[in-house]
Amino acid sequence: MTVIDFNGIQLPNIGIGTWHMGSDHRRFQIERDTIQTGIEHGATVIDTAEMYGNGDSEILVGNAIAPYNRQQLFLISKFYPQHALEPSLSQALTASLARLQTTYLDLYLYHWRGEAPLNQTVAELQALQASGKIRHWGVSNFDLADMQELLDQPGGKTVFANEDLYNLGERGIEYSLIPWQNQRQIPLIAYSPIDAGDSRHHNLATNPTVQTLASKYRVTPYQILLAWTVRNQQTLAIPQTSNPDHMLENIVAGNLTLAADDLAALDQVFPKPNRKEPLAVI
Ligand SMILES: NC(=O)c1ccc[n+]([C@@H]2O[C@H](COP(=O)([O-])OP(=O)(O)OC[C@H]3O[C@@H](n4cnc5c(N)ncnc54)[C@H](OP(=O)(O)O)[C@@H]3O)[C@@H](O)[C@H]2O)c1
Repeated sequence: MTVIDFNGIQLPNIGIGTWHMGSDHRRFQIERDTIQTGIEHGATVIDTAEMYGNGDSEILVGNAIAPYNRQQLFLISKFYPQHALEPSLSQALTASLARLQTTYLDLYLYHWRGEAPLNQTVAELQALQASGKIRHWGVSNFDLADMQELLDQPGGKTVFANEDLYNLGERGIEYSLIPWQNQRQIPLIAYSPIDAGDSRHHNLATNPTVQTLASKYRVTPYQILLAWTVRNQQTLAIPQTSNPDHMLENIVAGNLTLAADDLAALDQVFPKPNRKEPLAVI
C-alpha cells in the first residue's frame, strides 16, 4: 500500500470495498476481522453504500471501525438516486451515519445519476458539507458527458472524486474520461479493480500473461491486477474481500511497480481503447 495525494488528501492507494458484506450473520465475524486487518495495515479508506445489503454493509463497517480513531479513517458512503433531493437526502445521510455509528462521512457519493436536477443536488450536497456532516461530496458511475454537465452547475467544480468501474479488462474510461478528470484534478476511485466481483467477468486472474507476470514478481495474479489498476499513483482502488489473507495481499499489491515492458505486455492482451466506449457499470 502506498500513500498518494488524492485531491489534496493523503490516502492509501488501496482501500476496502464492502459490497455483499454484512448480511450473512455466519460471516459477520470474519468480515469484521477482515476490515480490521485492513485498517491495521493502513487501508483506512472504506467504501460502503446505503444500497449494500439495505444498510447491512454500513452496520458491519460501523461495528468494525468502532475501536479505531475515527479521524484516521476515510469513510465513503453513497445515496440512491431517489434520495438525491431534500428532504430524502438528509434522511438518507442521517440513517447512514447512524448505521456507521459516526457523526460525519469523509465522502458522500451520488451512487448513480437519476432524474433529479443536478444543480439542486449539488446545492444540497454543499449545504450538507457546510453543516459538517460530510467532508466532501462526489459522484459515481458518471461518464464524461455527466461530468461536463456537473462542472457547469454552480458549485459543480467542488466535486471531490468520481467512482467508476475500472480494471484491466474494462479500460474504456482511459479514452477520454480519465484524461479529462486528470486535467481538472478530479481523481478516480476504481471499483471492481480485480474484476472478480464483476458479472461481466474477463477471467483476468487466469489470463496467461497475468499469470506469467505473477510468477515473475512472485505475487498472485490478483496482486498484478491491483498493481496495474493503481499504476499511475493517482487512482484509489477499493477491492472487496472477506478473507484477511487476501486483504493483506491486496494492501501489499499497492506497493508493486510493474515495469514498462510488462505494462506493454498487458496492453497487447488488453488493449487501450481507441475510441469512446459507453461507460461500463455493474
Ligand atoms: N460505485 C459503484 O457503483 C460500485 C459498484 C460495484 C462495486 N463498488 C465498490 O467496489 C468494491 C469492489 O468491487 P467488487 O466487489 O465488485 O469486485 P472486486 O473487488 O473486483 O472483486 C471482489 C472479489 O475478489 C475476491 N478477491 C479480493 N481480493 C482477492 C485476492 N487477493 N485474491 C483472490 N481473490 C480476491 C473476493 O473474494 P474473497 O472474499 O475470497 O477474497 C471477491 O469475490 C465493492 O465492494 C464496492 O465497495 C462500487
